[in-house]
Formats: sequence, structure tokens, C-alpha cells
Amino acid sequence: MTWSGSTPFNQPPLSLEPNTHGPTAQRWGVASAFAPGKCILFGEHAVVYGHPAVAVAIDQGVRASITESLEWKLEGMPFDPSRHPHITHIIQSVFHYDGPPLTLDVQSGLFSAAGMGSSAALSNAVGAALHSHLNADEPLDSVKLAKLAHSAEATAQKGRASPTDTATSALGGCVVISGEHVEGTRHVFDTSLVTPEGRREWSINVVDLSPRVREAWLVMGYTGVGSPTGRMVAKVAKLLSESPERSEDMEDISRITRAGLTALSAGNLEALGMAMDACHERLQRLRVSNPLLDRLVVAARPHSMGAKLTGAGGGGCMVALTEDPQRVAEAIEVAGGRPLVSRLGAKGVRVV
Ligand code: MEV
Repeated sequence: MTWSGSTPFNQPPLSLEPNTHGPTAQRWGVASAFAPGKCILFGEHAVVYGHPAVAVAIDQGVRASITESLEWKLEGMPFDPSRHPHITHIIQSVFHYDGPPLTLDVQSGLFSAAGMGSSAALSNAVGAALHSHLNADEPLDSVKLAKLAHSAEATAQKGRASPTDTATSALGGCVVISGEHVEGTRHVFDTSLVTPEGRREWSINVVDLSPRVREAWLVMGYTGVGSPTGRMVAKVAKLLSESPERSEDMEDISRITRAGLTALSAGNLEALGMAMDACHERLQRLRVSNPLLDRLVVAARPHSMGAKLTGAGGGGCMVALTEDPQRVAEAIEVAGGRPLVSRLGAKGVRVV
């Protein structure tokens, strides 16, 4: 796989946008799809326990291409299913594929294990490319894909995964995931999962972003340290079982998320930023931040409306909301991080 990471801010981002010559690619027997990464604005970790989370799709993502061949290959190398649980789950357990061997090519503009939803984008892109390969005439069903990709994510994360990453990458825009319907949002679908802590149910909803929010920027800052989501989710589960009073922080995150959502709908960037700052503090209490993340958050804040870690924490990325992305990207770089700049609410998975 080509894990390309970010590009310097003053260069154009790695272009993984739809290839306008898609039909030509189809003619040559190549099925390709692009799925965006995601950035959680509020509610990471709490969403695993049924509290709401708000995430937006970002401009960068994963592109997967599939062709039939004589042997199974990934990026020109023999494909080892045990090393790629998401892809294996999609091909075997979801599509029950038993056709000729396939060659898969994957290009990513996301850092992996960094809170950008790279594995969800990978599952969605592979699922959409395989759908296009097998049923070229049927339109892509992004809800079905979100559910399939969630099952792949749950399998790879030992049964503890919310549908946040997969739904945001599949649907695009701004997605609200919650144990129950959240007022002011449009319901899209429901999904559930049996986790080691019991059965969880989520309602997946979308909200329209106001023009003011669409004009703002997110600058994500990668610490350079990958952090597998499954490990961080298990760490929080252990903390909660040893110190049940920490569930207060989950309640706080839930309250902050609702306030952030109100600010988001009203296009109130200042309130949105304040809610992001408050959310970071609660995530620190849940011990999922670390000195590297805190350093990037502090560096970004003077030029931002707000900043927090995003995703599972323990490394990975922070995110700042700003109208001055160049300044924030520079501040993150000076503090030792790798910046990646995006608008909020990119389009969801598509065949390209
Ligand atoms: C990971 O991007 C977000 C977490 O809330 C885990 C999950 O939702 O599955 C930490």
C-alpha cells in the first residue's frame, strides 16, 4: 500500500479526487473507489458508550482499485489475509467473494493509526470498488456500505467499535452518531453491535453545515506516533471498570458535544472552538491525551478558535478549527507535528 501521509501545507494536497476518466478505467477492467477520512469534532470514546459524537469527512482519503488477476496481490505483493483484517473481512465475510484472484491497489492520503479513520476509509473504498467490480450497473448504497465497513472495523477492534468512522467516511458531510436520535439532525439509519460490555445501538444522523462553518478550516496535526484505536478503547474500558466515577467525564463530553452541535448548526465558530477546548480537557482526564498531543494543541490555540485531540488519542492527531490555516500549520510544524489542512464536510465514498 502507498501510505502517502500529508503534504506540506503550501503544496496542493495529494489528489485522490475522482478520476474524471472513470468510465475508461471501467473499460479496462479496473474498478476504483475513493473514501474520505474523518475528523471527530466531539465525542470520541464517549460514543462507544452510546453518547453522541460529531464527525466531519475531510478532503483526504483512501483510493482502492481492483482488477482480476492470476494470483491474489496487494500492491504487487502476495496478499496475506491475516495481515489485512479489514480487507479480508470485506472480501470474504461481507461479499462472500469466490471469483478469480484479485489484485488490489491502495493509495492513502491519510496517516494510519492516527485518528483520521484510515481503516474505515480503507474498508469503504475496498467495499465500494468490489461492489463496482461485481455489480457495475447497480448504484452504490452508502448506508449498506457504512454497515459493512462497521462490521469490518468491529472485527478488527475485538468487538469494540462505534460506527463513527465508517458512517462519516461513507456518508460524507457532518455526521452525528448517538445512542438515540439527537434533536436538530436528520436521521439516516440505525445500527447495533454486541461488544464485550454488552449490546450497543446507535442512531446515525446528518446535519447541514452553515456557510460560515464551510468557510473555516481544520488543521490536523499528526504527532508522528501511531496509536491503534482498539488499544486505546480497551484502555478506557479498563479505566472505567477500575474507576467508575470517571463516567462523569463521559457525561461531560456528552454535554459538551450537544453544545458543540448547537454552535455548529448556528455557524458560531467561537462557541464551537470553546467546546473543542473543553472536550480536550475531559479527554485528558480520561488519560487518552499525552504530552505530544498537548504540545500541538497548545501551539495551535493562539491562531485557532479551539483545538483538541481527535480520534482515539495516545498519539495520532489533534485538530484545530481556524480561519488562518497557514499560521496554524506553521505553529504545528514548529512544535514538531505534521500538519494536514482540510475544509469541513467533504463528500462521502464514491466510485471513481
Ligand atoms: C476512533 O476514531 C474513535 C473512538 O471513539 C473509537 C470508536 O468510536 O470506535 C475512540
